[in-house]
Amino acid sequence: MDFEKIFSHNEAWIAEKLSVDKNYFNKLSEGQKPEVLYIGCSDSRVSTEELLGAKPGEVFVHRNIANMVISIDLNVMSVITYAVEHLKVKQIIVCGHYYCSGVKAAMEAKDLGLLNPWLRNIRDVYRIHKEELDLLKNPDEKYNRLAELNVEEQCINLIKTAAVQKAFIERDLRVHGWIFDIRSGKLIDMKINFKKILKEIMEIYNLNEGKSIF
Ligand code: CO
Repeated sequence: MDFEKIFSHNEAWIAEKLSVDKNYFNKLSEGQKPEVLYIGCSDSRVSTEELLGAKPGEVFVHRNIANMVISIDLNVMSVITYAVEHLKVKQIIVCGHYYCSGVKAAMEAKDLGLLNPWLRNIRDVYRIHKEELDLLKNPDEKYNRLAELNVEEQCINLIKTAAVQKAFIERDLRVHGWIFDIRSGKLIDMKINFKKILKEIMEIYNLNEGKSIF
């Protein structure tokens, strides 16, 4: 990557924005009011704004290896709390992708040092869905299905948080599980049936004195 080019591109971008609206950056500096929180993979091929066709100011973004929502990760939990309680986003997207190297690494019997505790969370998703995954004989199919199930589990992890449950009760907040198919470029809405899933597990994870969150 040519770093010189980055800065000349930046100059051209400023000129282009100002040619359309001379107050563009003044407006940007006034603050943000994004309606969407996007949690995705750090993978260089899954570029958030390009994928969503979003402009600066429209999406609050968090990316990590394999789009994980881990309750003791202060980083993702701070992002969720800020987005839900302060920015009051209306939609949260957890977007995974096929051929995710984080998911692949979690399927291999290898010691990856510092990465082990992170990947352990994906191994746990594998364990929860082992019965279904073991039926898939094609390794690619199994690997990509785990990427889908991981999105589903991370959406559930989101709904286990007090901030999201509170927002569900008090206002309209939607959670979406998506998958980006790198082979075709297609963005797929997994249309996860949260009501059904939550019905089964809310007895355990409800943080609102039993109050129904839907
Ligand atoms: Co990935």
